[in-house]
Amino acid sequence: MPLPALDAESAAHSLRVTDYIRRCVAEAGGCISFAEYMYHALYAPGLGYYSAGARKFGEAGDFVTAPEISPIFAGVLARQCAELFSVLDAPSMLEIGAGSGRLVCDLLKRLAELGELPERYEILEVSPDLRDRQSALVQSEVPDLAGRVSWVQQFPESLTGVIVANEVLDALPVERFAIRADGISQLCVTCEDESFAISERAAPRWLVGAIRTIEQDLGESLPEGFVSDVCVALPAWIADMAGTLERGAAFLFDYGIGRREYYAKDRSGGWVRCHFRHHAHNNALQLPGIQDITAWVDFSAVAAAAVENGLDIQGYVTQAQFLIGGGLDDELAGFEDLPIDAQLKLSGQVKLLTLPGEMGENFKCIGLSRGPVPRPTAFTLADRTMSL
Ligand SMILES: C[S@@+](CC[C@H](N)C(=O)[O-])C[C@H]1O[C@@H](n2cnc3c(N)ncnc32)[C@H](O)[C@@H]1O
Repeated sequence: MPLPALDAESAAHSLRVTDYIRRCVAEAGGCISFAEYMYHALYAPGLGYYSAGARKFGEAGDFVTAPEISPIFAGVLARQCAELFSVLDAPSMLEIGAGSGRLVCDLLKRLAELGELPERYEILEVSPDLRDRQSALVQSEVPDLAGRVSWVQQFPESLTGVIVANEVLDALPVERFAIRADGISQLCVTCEDESFAISERAAPRWLVGAIRTIEQDLGESLPEGFVSDVCVALPAWIADMAGTLERGAAFLFDYGIGRREYYAKDRSGGWVRCHFRHHAHNNALQLPGIQDITAWVDFSAVAAAAVENGLDIQGYVTQAQFLIGGGLDDELAGFEDLPIDAQLKLSGQVKLLTLPGEMGENFKCIGLSRGPVPRPTAFTLADRTMSL
């Protein structure tokens, strides 16, 4: 299906980002890795998709995330946080990549109702533009609780409480690679005409090492011709996050799968997906700066890095299982008393969050913890940790 037509402002912005990346390619001698391209397209200061000012979330943006779909998501998550807060001294929260600020507002509202507010709610957000938007939403929606919310520039030194990240891991740049007869190739981006093209070069040693580790885990070599992705930045991200978590739990939500499925022989092609005005496609080289570029998450890599950094795995479940196991029923109490149009709206939201063909199956939650904390009830239904 063709992508929607560009307005003049978006076209001009994408042209600026294209010029910027073309200069980076020229400075690098004619080609940059795909991960570098993805980094520039998403995070180039003042230009990248997440750094510049365009609207990204919700109906007027490019994609909708679970917290944007319904406060039910925050409601269930708040119940899980409350279970943990009740056994922790002066618990706090850290949200990573808070988007529009919808989740912080809905979580704090629900935690206030449950009588389990965190002392502090810190947000680690790379985008200055989104930080401003989050702050404005917090001021307008939860002014009485705004004093608890603050923004940090890096992972805090330590935190007792809960860390949350929804759809952040999929925004970490990935390397793309191909298995060739004469070795492993790194997929790179070069300039072609007014735009970009993919080229290949021999993979550097560190990338070969990452792929050999994957092959070791799988117990077999990847076949010649196989093309896929690896997020080499992920272990360091998990290590930083683990370094912060002194006692408590982390809930990481994203679309992803375990390593066996991620690198299954019939899944050649990789897991990069782009989102532009609610159209999903695979061409990351077009519309730089005005489309989201993501990659599905290898949750086995998340689990391995977590264990390596001393964390316990509390569970790994689909988003549907997380919500149903975590108290969806209780969040829907009083449903029958709502007017029919509100019932229809709410049931539509629940379907989007839980149905397998929507977000219910592809989105997962992995729960990680440090110290003696109870296992959140959301992980008690059909835990798939053993599949990782
Ligand atoms: C797809 S959006 C998800 C937003 C929000 N969590 C939600 O569910 O609506 C990704 C968010 O993560 C932020 N982000 C991306 N990489 C990050 C990083 N390394 N550290 C902190 N935030 C990051 C982006 O700026 C954006 O706010």
